[in-house]
Amino acid sequence: MIALARVEARGAYAARLLSRAVPAERELVLGVLRWQLTLDHLLARHLRQPLPSLDEQVRAALRVGLYEARRMRTPAPVAVAEAVRVAKALAPRAAGLVNAVLRRAVEEPWPDPADRNVPLSLRTSHPEWLVRRWVELLGESEAAAALAADQEPAPLCLLEAVSSREKLAAAGCDVEPHALVPGVIVVTRGAEAAVLALRAGKAYAIDPAAVSVARLLPPVAGLTVDLAAAPGGKSLVLASERPGIRLLAADRSLGRALRMRGNFALLERAPGVAVADAVAAPLRPGSCQAVLLDAPCSGTGTLRRHPEIRWRLQPEGLAVVAAGQRRLAEAAAALLAPGGVLLYATCSLEPEENAAVVAGLDLEVLPAVPALPFRELPGGGVVIPPSAAGDGFTVHLLRRRA
Ligand SMILES: C[S@@+](CC[C@H](N)C(=O)[O-])C[C@H]1O[C@@H](n2cnc3c(N)ncnc32)[C@H](O)[C@@H]1O
Repeated sequence: MIALARVEARGAYAARLLSRAVPAERELVLGVLRWQLTLDHLLARHLRQPLPSLDEQVRAALRVGLYEARRMRTPAPVAVAEAVRVAKALAPRAAGLVNAVLRRAVEEPWPDPADRNVPLSLRTSHPEWLVRRWVELLGESEAAAALAADQEPAPLCLLEAVSSREKLAAAGCDVEPHALVPGVIVVTRGAEAAVLALRAGKAYAIDPAAVSVARLLPPVAGLTVDLAAAPGGKSLVLASERPGIRLLAADRSLGRALRMRGNFALLERAPGVAVADAVAAPLRPGSCQAVLLDAPCSGTGTLRRHPEIRWRLQPEGLAVVAAGQRRLAEAAAALLAPGGVLLYATCSLEPEENAAVVAGLDLEVLPAVPALPFRELPGGGVVIPPSAAGDGFTVHLLRRRA
């Protein structure tokens, strides 16, 4: 409850807050955040005052109680009693309200995921504005599948080249190859052991879509620069799979660059690391054969892992993010040698952050074929919708004319 209240009231990132939590606690918090809109809808029917007017701890107790009763296998009386117990400790005056509201809310029917009379937003617990956008981008059935995928926990996936299978097996962790992205292994048992291996620097966790996106950058003879590289996932893919690559991985944040350098210790031959703002990178214009810009973004492709983003983000906020991305993309394009390629990627599905950004660059759009299901965009570029197989991304592969 405390974690949930912090995420809501103080804008904390749930995944970061839960980095040391046991998997069951982590999934409970992420699950409540994923289903918040549906939970709130059912709770609101039994409240006299609006839910947002309640104390944040009370709101969290109500959401957790209802989530446990309806989405986990906790018997309803147990879930209600536990929520009341916590409310008594954190907000004693509201314990009666929690009890009265929850006892009725747990009896409410859960929206049928297939009932088209119920708004898709309510069935999949996403804000209406985001649902409208994704339906426009992907069509109704693909959007519904992407929204449903956001509601499931993301499996723990590792980059095989730098994650020793022997060490994982010895620690009691079972893995299997990812169905669509070679070189990615999925933890099927012993997630706790895998988390310990990650903390000990013996493995690297990565989303399969991120691996597939990194591979879209063609191998080149000259310099490759990863301009917003930390914590280094895509650079790890390139460096581990392309032995002769001349790779420089840069990031504006010193802390994140140091973390990235630590992650590169998993490699036999680490790329160079630089702390640099991409808009003023210490590189000559025209000096790079390949540039990877995995730009900071709204993250709408990562809602499985970061469910709270959907409640924080407002459509108006996209223009602000896009303005920063345009500056980065222009700086990245200026580094390209004639014939050089820029892979511009974001883990966002939103056109403002992607097609609209690259439309302002005087670069040719090249075809890109990711390993995961994707949809081609009208102006070139591809969108990879979030799915059980990986996070969502939008990718444009661009070339400076020779
Ligand atoms: C989406 S993350 C990159 C993830 C990374 N490519 C990977 O695969 O692990 C975006 C990164 O951009 C960095 N960043 C943000 N603004 C930047 C700037 N102006 N110049 C360089 N890096 C920047 C952030 O510190 C963050 O590490």
